[in-house]
Amino acid sequence: MGSAFYLRRMVMFSVALAMMFLTWNKAIELVDEVYNANTVLNEGLRGKIPLLTNTDPHKSLSGGKDECHHVAYLKVHKTGSSSVQNIFLRFGQTRNLTFILGHDNEELAETPYANMISYSNTLNDKNIVPPPEGSHYDIICCHVIYNRTTFQKYLPTDTKYIGLVRDPITRLESAIRYFQLFSNRNLSEYANDPLRFEKGPHSMSNNRMAFEFGYPLTLFPNSHDQPNDLENAINDYTDDLFDQFDLIMINERMDESLVLMRRILNWQIKDILYMKKLVSKQETRRFSEIDIQNLKPFLYLDFKLYQRSLDVFNTMVDALGQDFQDEVAIFKNYKDQVIKFCKSGKPLELFKGSKWNNEFNVTKEDCRLLNIFETHLIQEIRKRQYGQIGN
Ligand SMILES: *[C@@H]1O[C@H](CO)[C@@H](O)[C@H](O)[C@H]1NC(C)=O
Ligand SMILES: *[C@@H]1O[C@H](CO)[C@@H](O)[C@H](O)[C@H]1NC(C)=O
Ligand SMILES: *[C@@H]1O[C@H](CO)[C@@H](O)[C@H](O)[C@H]1NC(C)=O
Ligand SMILES: *[C@@H]1O[C@H](CO)[C@@H](O)[C@H](O)[C@H]1NC(C)=O
Repeated sequence: MGSAFYLRRMVMFSVALAMMFLTWNKAIELVDEVYNANTVLNEGLRGKIPLLTNTDPHKSLSGGKDECHHVAYLKVHKTGSSSVQNIFLRFGQTRNLTFILGHDNEELAETPYANMISYSNTLNDKNIVPPPEGSHYDIICCHVIYNRTTFQKYLPTDTKYIGLVRDPITRLESAIRYFQLFSNRNLSEYANDPLRFEKGPHSMSNNRMAFEFGYPLTLFPNSHDQPNDLENAINDYTDDLFDQFDLIMINERMDESLVLMRRILNWQIKDILYMKKLVSKQETRRFSEIDIQNLKPFLYLDFKLYQRSLDVFNTMVDALGQDFQDEVAIFKNYKDQVIKFCKSGKPLELFKGSKWNNEFNVTKEDCRLLNIFETHLIQEIRKRQYGQIGN
């Protein structure tokens, strides 16, 4: 018995020792990885990671002075963008911030939708309502095409830029369902030769994420000879994007994305709560494995953007380590509890604080804003900003 005891101690000791080495090696690996990734990825990211680790979650509670009020969120079609947009709408509405809005007056509007500034253009003096007398724009989170120059023209210099991407294939499937594209066609037919079905880069299916992120039209597929010679220009534009954006979130990693965003904007956990918006009951048609292989060369811009976003995202998350993962777990827990509370019909609940936030109340009004249809909240914002709708 005695020797079995010692044997066990020995084994445990060895395991502990091995784990220490493993952890140490892992740590070195991680540092190398992060360093290499940083040098490979871009200059901009290198400055961002220390900023994220140093974020003091309690600072913004002491008066809210440090929470970021200037945000450009690029809302990209069918990336799950409405759930995230709700966060910005709520945040700005409860703090009386000024949003860039498209017109909702038939004569002036570029699109018939209150939440959409433009399908195909970036911001300009015609497609947005001027800010109310004596104020400046704080936030943009409605659909419009990204262009750094024009965004900078309308937004303060300390604006944080946030994007969201999704796996290009599931995004395309979602767009096909939502916009009822190719409804009389077998999807394999489309996947075999997408260019036969695409009339230009303005469609919801032709590298739409890249289109909304402002990739120049010269980089879009327009012949069956795929663009080896464009590779440098594509990489250059992608590099620029990652210098310009503070964060590109990943749909498939939503909770981590939002916690990263919270740290970048120095917001509260309560601010980033969300409820998944109703998903269509209509069946989604899926591409086969062969279809996906056929689609990849056509969707090269979307795949480039998505893959780079994932690489940068993983580098950030790895660098932040366990503390970050712990916050993500707490966030998920709050989310579940708040959803339960909102279903309960109770008027108010006090939620306990954590390492990353003080205690906070959730009210019926908070639930209403979490659940509200995006265009309704935009019209409420419009009324507050301009005293009326129909601008
Ligand atoms: C926002 O404006 C409304 C109406 O002017 C005012 O009642 C409210 O206190 C303001 N809220 C904040 C957070 O400034
Ligand atoms: C679509 O076409 C593919 C290949 O031509 C075929 O295997 C598949 O069964 C078709 N699917 C439908 C739903 O007709
Ligand atoms: C962005 O807008 C500027 C100014 O209107 C224009 O010169 C530039 O070509 C645009 N960039 C892209 C990538 O379209
Ligand atoms: C929560 O609401 C109660 C009741 O209105 C209030 O007394 C309390 O101060 C609130 N707590 C926080 C953290 O806002």
